[in-house]
Amino acid sequence: MNFIDLVTTRHSVRTFLPDPIPKEILQEILEAGRLAPSAQNRQPWRYIVFTDPAKIRELAKKTGLIGLSNFFIKDAPCVIIACADMKKNVRINRQDYYLVDTAISFQQMMLCAHSHGIGSCWLAAFSEKALAKYLQLPRNWRIVALAPFGYESENKSMYGKVLSAFAGSAQRQPLEEMVSYR
Ligand SMILES: Cc1cc2nc3c(=O)[nH]c(=O)nc-3n(C[C@H](O)[C@H](O)[C@H](O)COP(=O)(O)O)c2cc1C
Repeated sequence: MNFIDLVTTRHSVRTFLPDPIPKEILQEILEAGRLAPSAQNRQPWRYIVFTDPAKIRELAKKTGLIGLSNFFIKDAPCVIIACADMKKNVRINRQDYYLVDTAISFQQMMLCAHSHGIGSCWLAAFSEKALAKYLQLPRNWRIVALAPFGYESENKSMYGKVLSAFAGSAQRQPLEEMVSYR
């Protein structure tokens, strides 16, 4: 698949088959994240990978009240939590770059996954406090996002359908609204 086809066909996946992601593909997905660019090459991202179905079901219950909207992660064969080590944060122009760095890295992983037919969904709705406590994260880590990864199920759950419709997932603004030439 060429790059424009890859980004055109990528979409958030919220219903999963239980089939596990083959180890070598998971390794490649993580490698795609490792190779990402970052401010001053500080590579602040840290990934926590869940592949045990029982642990994933438990994790889904620990995302806090706001995270309940993302309870569908319980059925994914893999969940990755994208964190950032704030000791590696770079601040330029009053902007903290750990978010940008980790987002680039995580998105590279999601696109790599999609190139293997594996879907994912970026999730921001979770309680960082509840999750950090459950995961016993170091104090200097922030949780940037989490995402389920897995093969998409054709049988979309009602939950998946509602969330996709709510997010208005297929819609994009026209280029003219976001680009100006000088
Ligand atoms: C920063 C960010 C946070 C998001 N948080 C959630 C979330 O908590 N739950 C969810 O179901 N989808 C979440 N999404 C997915 C968006 O709803 C989705 O990317 C958007 O509607 C576009 O749809 P598409 O990814 O299918 O193209 C998030 C996406 C991003 C980039």
